[in-house]
Amino acid sequence: MTISRKDVADHFSLRAPTYDRSSSWCTDTKLGELLLALARPGRQDRVLDVACGTGLVSRLFTGRVAELVGVDLTEEMAEQAVPHLDRLVVTGAEHLPFEDSTFDIVVCRQGVQFMDLPAAVEEMVRVVRPGGRVVLVNLCAYDERDREEYFEILRLRNPVRRHFFLPSDLEELLRKAGCDQTETRSYVSVENVDVWSDNGAIEEDRREAIREVYRNASSDFRSLHAVREADGRFTDHMLFVLAAGSKPPTARTSSEESHDASV
Ligand SMILES: C[S@@+](CC[C@H](N)C(=O)[O-])C[C@H]1O[C@@H](n2cnc3c(N)ncnc32)[C@H](O)[C@@H]1O
Repeated sequence: MTISRKDVADHFSLRAPTYDRSSSWCTDTKLGELLLALARPGRQDRVLDVACGTGLVSRLFTGRVAELVGVDLTEEMAEQAVPHLDRLVVTGAEHLPFEDSTFDIVVCRQGVQFMDLPAAVEEMVRVVRPGGRVVLVNLCAYDERDREEYFEILRLRNPVRRHFFLPSDLEELLRKAGCDQTETRSYVSVENVDVWSDNGAIEEDRREAIREVYRNASSDFRSLHAVREADGRFTDHMLFVLAAGSKPPTARTSSEESHDASV
């Protein structure tokens, strides 16, 4: 089944009213601090938050930078980000309406999994200035051993998710889009699966199917995710990967290279 942008926006418009409470990671200050440590914002910086959603990541930059711009596909999510932004553009990340090298920092948390790849990451690198930073943050499987079961859980919880990642994938996306000095950090978020699956956009049968995957989980999965069960309820230690890279001073983005090749 092909997932359209409308499918994605419809899903997140249902989730918009309760999004900020839908996972403990949403407002986890330690995860936020790690993101900031990789982004390294300065007072004069212009920052772009791609897939800004309700502005939870944008808020981390409030008072720390000169300008904060958000981009998101879903109006009902993005309108909540408006008070935290200097400017909001409701559009897809695959064609960012900004000149090359407009920003010092581009961040995208839990966004690339819904986007055309590598196009969206190439756009992020295009609009950041040479020497600027791009930071991607996403839930990932730990490794091959939990990959299949975890991806199934993620798919059930969010049917419009298009990409599923292993820890090295995000850094690889940045490198292929032209970044160097790439680095990766990880962060484990402890989630109550019943709270996490109650996102306002999926039916009870999907939530039950998620519980069923946990009930039948392999010992590798249980051990990697440190799954805890009490009264039929599960707790999962979910892995976030934060990958950052710099655009080299003389960077040529892959879109520039393909443009040269086509003229
Ligand atoms: C899981 S939320 C993440 C929101 C925010 N970054 C955060 O960390 O809380 C995913 C967001 O990505 C947006 N999104 C999905 N596909 C997109 C695309 N192609 N371009 C722009 N935004 C997109 C959705 O509308 C949604 O608001």
